Amino acid sequence: MSDRPRAFVAGHPVNHSRSPLIHGFWLERHGIDGCYEALDVAPEGFEGLMRDVRAGVWTGGNATIPHKEAAFRLVDRRDGAAEAIGAVNTLWTEDGMLVGGNTDAYGFAANLDQRLDRWRDGETALVLGAGGASRAIVHALVDAGYRRIDIVNRTAQRAVDVAARFGEGVKGHGWQAVDERLAAADLIVNTTSLGMHGQPPLVLDFGAAHSSAFATDIVYVPLVTPFLAAANEAGLATCDGLGMLLHQAVPGFERWFGARPRVDEALRMHILGDLGEG
Ligand code: ATR
Repeated sequence: MSDRPRAFVAGHPVNHSRSPLIHGFWLERHGIDGCYEALDVAPEGFEGLMRDVRAGVWTGGNATIPHKEAAFRLVDRRDGAAEAIGAVNTLWTEDGMLVGGNTDAYGFAANLDQRLDRWRDGETALVLGAGGASRAIVHALVDAGYRRIDIVNRTAQRAVDVAARFGEGVKGHGWQAVDERLAAADLIVNTTSLGMHGQPPLVLDFGAAHSSAFATDIVYVPLVTPFLAAANEAGLATCDGLGMLLHQAVPGFERWFGARPRVDEALRMHILGDLGEG
């Protein structure tokens, strides 16, 4: 084994992942002799990969769909965010132990910190969707001090289940609650896949939203989703989802390669070029 740091993103499929592009950009910027590879790993192969990380074959890596829950189960130890979210997206070792973290909540908050002044002043949030991304974002919102968080989802039970993982102030609803909860929200977040290229748009009536509310999306292809366009039209300040993807990569890079990378316009342009939006 060489000392050259080696990290991966494991997914199935994995060819859609932008992570190699992000980490490759930073490795070059920092002049680090390391590598970051995309690994297509079927579910039955994931445990073997975890053994390789524990054995030091890899410095660490990212787990993406469909491996985030398996990574959660298979690690020796988890950070607080992974425990709260129930999924692991970042892996590393400490004293021979395999450790799993979740950087999605960090990525969400760091993106808004950079691009939406005063988003932390809000108290009430509306989260649309109740999948894995929703859990990470609710965790970030609780952490940021939001006191009331309403999760609205097509399948009401999933929203209720996500809410039950968090405290008193987090409530789950079916879609019929959307207009009422929208009117009360300081921050509105789409965590569904609606609006993504090839998917139907998320159609919301922002008429009842207050004009000082913020809206943000986890979808970043296209960069300006129909949801964000409608929010803009209604006079809300908005922030696209690309920054969440970029910022969630920061803690992993720092652990594996030893330098804290920057999310800036040059990185954004690099990724946008690849997405065909540059
Ligand atoms: P992830 O873990 O990446 O968040 P997911 O678990 O598949 O992905 O969740 C996708 C989210 O988008 C869910 O909230 C889903 O709603 P359901 O729980 O009712 O399935 C939502 N979603 C996907 N397609 C949708 C559609 N056509 N209309 C409304 N919601 C949709």
